[in-house]
Amino acid sequence: MSTYRFGSLPHKDLLSVAQLSVDEIGLIFNTAAELKRNREKHDSVLRGKKLAMVFEKDSLRTRFTFDVGMQDLGGHAVFMDHRDARIGQRESVRDVAKNLERWVHAIVARTYKHRVVTELAENCSIPVINGLSDYLHPCQALSDFFTLYEKWNGDIAGRRITYLGDGNNTCHSLINTASKLGAHLTVCTPEGYEPNSKVVHEAMLFARQSGAEIRITNDPEKATIDADAVYTDVWASMGQEDETEERAGIFHDYQVDDEIMGRAKPEAFFMHCLPAHRGHEVTADVMDGPRSIVFDIAENRLHVQKAILVLLLHP
Ligand code: CP
Ligand code: NVA
Repeated sequence: MSTYRFGSLPHKDLLSVAQLSVDEIGLIFNTAAELKRNREKHDSVLRGKKLAMVFEKDSLRTRFTFDVGMQDLGGHAVFMDHRDARIGQRESVRDVAKNLERWVHAIVARTYKHRVVTELAENCSIPVINGLSDYLHPCQALSDFFTLYEKWNGDIAGRRITYLGDGNNTCHSLINTASKLGAHLTVCTPEGYEPNSKVVHEAMLFARQSGAEIRITNDPEKATIDADAVYTDVWASMGQEDETEERAGIFHDYQVDDEIMGRAKPEAFFMHCLPAHRGHEVTADVMDGPRSIVFDIAENRLHVQKAILVLLLHP
């Protein structure tokens, strides 16, 4: 039986890292560390609680870790497979939310349109967690930075991280998190694939307080110089499959290979949210090499999401 006193987040939902203060991110990291350290101890923190997992897209990590996370904490997850029909198609998003709140204690949603996640959140009284939308992937970025927090003993401010590839959902949430935590993030994309300007603008405002430097560039030759970590993601995200071939040509110079890693610090980590496509955004040598921490990040999805569940649901 656990005697650990868990805190709580002063939010109903977890939709974006941009909504969190630095202290709240710290609370998530400390809670995740405790849940990781004493995995067996906290097996009844969410006893009797039920989580609906409403997914319009495929998933290995997010689906598995939320499900196992609820089991670890004494709760239960129910998977609602929406991969054939989008949420809101059979009945309105609002009505789905109004039904679910009568049966379960929280919802994790993975959607095409970000608006669907926010609409679910606006129309129910229970917590809604963003499990990836076309705009953001907050659980991923929190797990990425929690992993760096572990590797660098909490010393994140002032570190240099370079993201190479598409200015997508994963990239947006990394920008949000880096700007809050004072990490220097260089985002390097082909022209026309830069991150959303609203995300960048907001990050610049956070950066004034945290000391972060957020840089957007199109030059892969210089982007990884002196980096402490190099990050990439797929070139075509879910929903963009028909652009795969076109993007392979456009993103060719942004592949993370030994040369690009060679410009980073010798001890720099390689990071990827997964799934990875060896030979596309990353070479097999880098992906499977000694600097790769991709499976440590994948493991931490479990601990970080358990922390989010406890901090939103524990009385
Ligand atoms: N990184 C990530 O979210 O993985 P899945 O798409 O498998 O959930
Ligand atoms: N950007 C990717 C992330 C997958 C975890 C996608 O949206 O498909």
